[in-house]
This record gives sequence, C-alpha cells and structure tokens, in this order.
Amino acid sequence: MNNFEFKNPTKIIFGKDSIKKLENEIPKDAKVLLLYGGGSIKKNGIYDQVKKALAKVNIVEFGGIPANPEYALLMDALKVIKDEKITYLLAVGGGSVIDGTKFLSSAALFEGETPWDILSKNIRTEKGMPFGTVLTLPATGSEMNSGAVITRKETKEKLSMGGPGLFPEFSILDPQVIASIPQHQLANGLMDAFTHVLEQYMTYPTEALLQDRFAESILQTIIKVAPKVLKDPTDYKAASNFMWSCTMALNGLIQKGVPTDWAVHAMGHELTALFGIDHARTLAVIAPSHYKFNFEAKKEKLAQYAARVWNITDGNTDDKAYAAIEKTVAFFHELDIDTKLSDYTKDYEGTAEKIAQRFTDRGWLGLGEHQSLSPDKVEKIVKMAY
Ligand code: NZQ
Ligand code: ZN
Repeated sequence: MNNFEFKNPTKIIFGKDSIKKLENEIPKDAKVLLLYGGGSIKKNGIYDQVKKALAKVNIVEFGGIPANPEYALLMDALKVIKDEKITYLLAVGGGSVIDGTKFLSSAALFEGETPWDILSKNIRTEKGMPFGTVLTLPATGSEMNSGAVITRKETKEKLSMGGPGLFPEFSILDPQVIASIPQHQLANGLMDAFTHVLEQYMTYPTEALLQDRFAESILQTIIKVAPKVLKDPTDYKAASNFMWSCTMALNGLIQKGVPTDWAVHAMGHELTALFGIDHARTLAVIAPSHYKFNFEAKKEKLAQYAARVWNITDGNTDDKAYAAIEKTVAFFHELDIDTKLSDYTKDYEGTAEKIAQRFTDRGWLGLGEHQSLSPDKVEKIVKMAY
C-alpha cells in the first residue's frame, strides 16, 4: 500500500427529515447567501424546508445556477457576495450548485488578478469562505470532497479546482429528496458514482486489500439498488443506499494508498465542454474504449472486478477481463445510457484530434495511473468511442 494522509472534515447529517437540522449548523450571526439551481427546489418542497429551518437567519438568495456551473453567472454571484458582505454560503442542489458554491468560496477570498486563474492556473485553495450544503441529487460526491468543476461557455472549457479549504463544513443528506429527481438524472447519478469507483480501482493490483473491498462493495451496492431506485424513487431503503454510495464513492477514502486513473473524467469533461453532454453520459462514452485500449495494463484488476463484482469465474484472466467490460457496458445500457459519442451528436468528426490538442496545449502529456496516457493515445481512445 502507498503512504497516505487522510483528513475529511465534512460533517454528514444523514437521514429522513434532516433538512430541519440546518438551523443548528449555520452560525447565528452569519449573513448567508443561499445558492440554488434552475428551480427544482421550489417545486419539490426543499426550498420551503430550508427557509423554515433558517427563519431566524439573515439570508440573501442567488438562484439560476445551471447544470455545469457557468463561470460568467458565478461572477454575478461573486458581486452579490461582495456587495452584500456575505459571510457564509449555503448550496442547496446537486453537484453543479455545490461546485459553483465551492468556486465562490474560493473566489470570495482570492487576492489574485482574476478568479479565472484559480481554474486555469490550477491554484490550490487553502482557505475559502465557509459553506455548507443540502444535497438534492446523489451523484458527484461533491458534498463531501474538496473538488469542483467549472464551465466557461465563452471558451468551451471545463476545468477543475480544489484544495483543503474547499470541504463543506457540513452536508445534509435526506434520501427523501430523490423522489422528485427525473429518471435520466437518477441514471446519471448512478453512472457517475459507479465511474468514480472505477477510476480509483481499475488500475493494477497493489495488495491494498481493504481499499479493493471498499470499492467493490460500493459497485455491488450501486448495481443492486439501481433498478429499485429507477423503478420507485420513493423507496427509502433503496434511496438511502444510493445516496450514501454516491458520497462514499468520492469522499477520498477509497483512493487512499492506491494508484488512481481519472483519465475517463479528463476526456469526458471535454465532451461536456464541447457538446454539452451530461457529465455522467460522457463517462459512459469514454469508459468502455478506455478499458479496451488499456486492456493489457488493467486486465488483472478487470479480472478481479469480473469475479468479485459480476461473479464471472469462467476462463482465463483475459476472458474474465473482457467479459467484465461487456457486463459494464450492458449495465450502462440497463440504466438507459448510450455509450457511443455518435449517439449524442452527429458532429463528432475531429473531436479526438481536438481533445488531444487541448491536452497537449495544457501540458497534460501523461494521464492515468502510470502517467503514460499521452495525447496520441487519448486521440485513439476518443476515436474508438465515436
Ligand atoms: O437546477 P435544478 O432546477 O435544481 O435541476 C437540477 C438539474 O437540472 C436537477 N435536480 C437536482 N436535484 C433535483 C433535481 N430535479 C428534481 N429533484 C431534485 N431533487 O438535476 C439537474 C442536474 O443537476 P446537477 O447538479 O448538474 O447534476 P450533478 O449532481 O450530476 O452534477 C454535475 C456537475 O458536477 C460535476 C460535473 O462535471 C457537473 O458539472 N462533477 C463534480 C465533481 C466533484 N465536485 O467532485 C465530480 C464529478 O465527477 C463531476 O465532474
Ligand atoms: Zn464524475
């Protein structure tokens, strides 16, 4: 096992009717900016629950944060933070609202030239404005990690940021919020969390026995609850297991002491930036090609995953590893998620070259667990995904 340090300061408040506990978490003298998305919280009752819990708190609101949080709009929110002398941020939403809030947390205290530098120069945030979250969509794990991904439409870019100053102080996870999520977003959440585990697992064996079992157990849980969640999002047992799996998939725990890949996300983010495809669906497009292209390097773990997660025991290592990729693709299809770029856009010619060029320009010359996935290999993988 590799050496590691682990600190995750986010307090999780999990369970039925837990949104009312908000009032215990926000400092009484805070001036709060309540951030939310396109309005789902006003239809499903979450907004009312939040307002009720914060009846005694001084609140300013900023709604309209879109999926794939947009830089230009967040700059408007930053102005509100400065003009209104906000001291505390509260995100009520999915990954996009939470990531947007993380950007604001960092930008509010940023002393450099332009907050865009936080993203383009990958400046680590050591300290941000304090914030908490009420999660409305299980998927990204953003509610318990310190990363964020921000989009800039103007330049068709989607860039990451992070740092120890960007953990939420608390996150409220009430699985009942799932009831109002549309089917395709539920599928996205299942898909995203599943891939988060794969990115931290599908590398090479390192005898990190416990981490492997953590990862496999999250994958197994997602596979088990997926049909139940999709069939009946008011099924509390399924919803609670789904929600906790998504958080555990990307709160830092399972990646400790093991190599990680993250190339599927790096390529996927470009597909969102270029075509606006939902984050989770870009992963379904890239992952199968990525595992086929890197078959030799990953086949030991693919075969372990085949046996332990999919109960595939016939054949040699190659057979099992290949069958595992097939099973994974079939699972994505069961979620009603398409796995080819051409399923999403007719305009895909030249995409592979474009992404490879962007990676070259950014100096991303070696991605993956061996830092060996060069832009020419990225180009081949994306082409395989057409
Ligand atoms: O905007 P509203 O009206 O609220 O509607 C949202 C949005 O349209 C809707 N929704 C959320 N909760 C709902 C609901 N609708 C009904 N009932 C509810 N309870 O769902 C839509 C999608 O929301 P969004 O927040 O965009 O989805 P998700 O949580 O999948 O977040 C995706 C973003 O997170 C980034 C992605 O790149 C993407 O920008 N990621 C963040 C990560 C992180 N911070 O760790 C890691 C991930 O890999 C990912 O990159
Ligand atoms: Zn993701």
